[in-house]
Amino acid sequence: MKATDAFRIGVLTLSDKGAQGQRVDESGPVVRELLDTVGQVTHVIILPDDIKSIVEILTAWADQEQLSLIVTTGGTGLTPRDVTPQATLQVIDYEIPGMAEVMRMQSLRKTPHAMLSRAVVGVRGQTLIVNLPGSPRAARENLEAVLPALPHALAKLAGDPSDCGQA
Ligand code: MTE
Repeated sequence: MKATDAFRIGVLTLSDKGAQGQRVDESGPVVRELLDTVGQVTHVIILPDDIKSIVEILTAWADQEQLSLIVTTGGTGLTPRDVTPQATLQVIDYEIPGMAEVMRMQSLRKTPHAMLSRAVVGVRGQTLIVNLPGSPRAARENLEAVLPALPHALAKLAGDPSDCGQA
């Protein structure tokens, strides 16, 4: 068992077509692989872009399952079905604006369309929730932007009392 296995992670793919089996979920596996260095992915699900279902799963994974981290992919854009940020804002206690800002800032170097992602990062209880866009490339590029800060963020949320700035 790796030290990082202490952090249990959920990966939630939001896609109407994926949930109906009409599209293979390529982003979920990309996200899972990248998170291997951060913790153990214990929960994986594909849901349609339905705000009620998203709110329910985020709440259950945070409150009952007590996951350290939930990463969503998809539904952050501008179509009427894109509701992941709205659902996330309904469940979080507070936002971590810097993490969402850095995702968009780094992504703008790749494409001007990066500014169209409304991805939110925030905290419910002791669970960090990170929205990523839906395409495998966008999910990878956005997650890579915040990956270096995730272990420290999760340790702090879990109650690590040590002083910051030592490493
Ligand atoms: N960010 C990166 N790094 N790379 C991308 O290709 N695509 C953008 C943006 N963010 C993209 C990106 C596009 S085209 C859209 S519409 C938004 O993410 C929202 O994507 P989503 O609706 O799949 O969540």
